[in-house]
Amino acid sequence: MENDILGRARSHFENLVQMQLDRVEKMKANEDWIDFQSLDAIRIAIIGGDGIGPYISRPTRTVLEFLLADEIGSGKVVLHDIEGLTIENRAKQGKAIPDDVLQEIQKYPVSLKGPTTTPRKGDPWPNIESANVAMRKALDLFANVRPVRIPKEGIHWTFFRENTEGAYVLGSHGIHINDDVAFDFKVITTQGAERIIRLAFEYAKKHGFDRVTVVTKANVVKTTDGKFLQLAQEIAKEYPDINCDDWYIDIMAAKLLDPKRRRDFQVFVLPNLYGDILTDEAAEMQGGVGTAGSANIGKRYAMFEAIHGSAPRMVDEGRAEYADPSSLIRAAAMMLGHIGFEKRAKRLEMALDICGQFERKIVLTGRSTGGSSGKYADYLMGTIQSADLEEKWNSFQ
Ligand code: IPM
Ligand code: MG
Repeated sequence: MENDILGRARSHFENLVQMQLDRVEKMKANEDWIDFQSLDAIRIAIIGGDGIGPYISRPTRTVLEFLLADEIGSGKVVLHDIEGLTIENRAKQGKAIPDDVLQEIQKYPVSLKGPTTTPRKGDPWPNIESANVAMRKALDLFANVRPVRIPKEGIHWTFFRENTEGAYVLGSHGIHINDDVAFDFKVITTQGAERIIRLAFEYAKKHGFDRVTVVTKANVVKTTDGKFLQLAQEIAKEYPDINCDDWYIDIMAAKLLDPKRRRDFQVFVLPNLYGDILTDEAAEMQGGVGTAGSANIGKRYAMFEAIHGSAPRMVDEGRAEYADPSSLIRAAAMMLGHIGFEKRAKRLEMALDICGQFERKIVLTGRSTGGSSGKYADYLMGTIQSADLEEKWNSFQ
């Protein structure tokens, strides 16, 4: 009996180790970054998702069509809807991402994705892996870049969350050893950690920031977090003009709330789960998770999404049309910048700040007491068109 238990555990662990060694080999292959300027057409997939996903994707698509009208007209940019990444279809096929849907997604170097429901034990759905997590792994989207801006408080943060390993990579591959003992696994690799840490430092350098903050729990989670921190400290030596400080996740979560200290932080780099948690906290300070966008960047693919989930309750209660689309529209702005339309990205971001944080002529409450997502998109497009957009935005800073 005892041997059976140990034998099963051993072979389970062996498989996981092999999977991770194979993943490292793929990372070592070190592909080139895709160059959007060299493409005849930039093909963008719009993936509606489920729950409130389609309700916030539609107004986001409208805003993109407005901003990219010329390029869409000339065929330089193509927007293409992909159906089928819904919890219903995923549950039916028993897959985080059904094969045909993944094949379709892989035809598009860029995608804009609405939220998708992540089941857990006890839900009416089979307990399949999160579509987000599966997509990040399948397309090797290793950098989850999440900006949080609160201009009136001088807060300008950019989080570089590692997106393909840490506590997530084997999150659906844990093992119940027996009735009493359950194991999950956390993985940090040299290649996986280095590429996100370097990206954070390069971003800081390019944008003139002089501080990169590494967040771990290396005092307790000594092996994996210890490795992440050590690699960060080594890489930091290559950037003598940038200060590298390190914090533990618990005190970091507290310091984000410290009005005397928080504006000093600039760029953060952190393993997957800590990034997940800290970015929700930061987004809440900006005005709620409904206001925060997220870029999932890899060398060949990039996927842009809201940082929140699919809010099925809003659909059940008939409130989906009042969901705040700012999160996904912020993601769309990041997407515009990523594919080479920086000026338009900036205008969209300014309009989002004006409409969401300052002027607030339409306020979204998630209920019929506030505006609808469609009306909000109209408000944004009107604001983008106004001749004094930049002056207006500057006057609020
Ligand atoms: C996020 C979300 C996802 C995550 C969920 C939906 C799996 O919370 O993008 O932060 O945990 O990464
Ligand atoms: Mg999250």
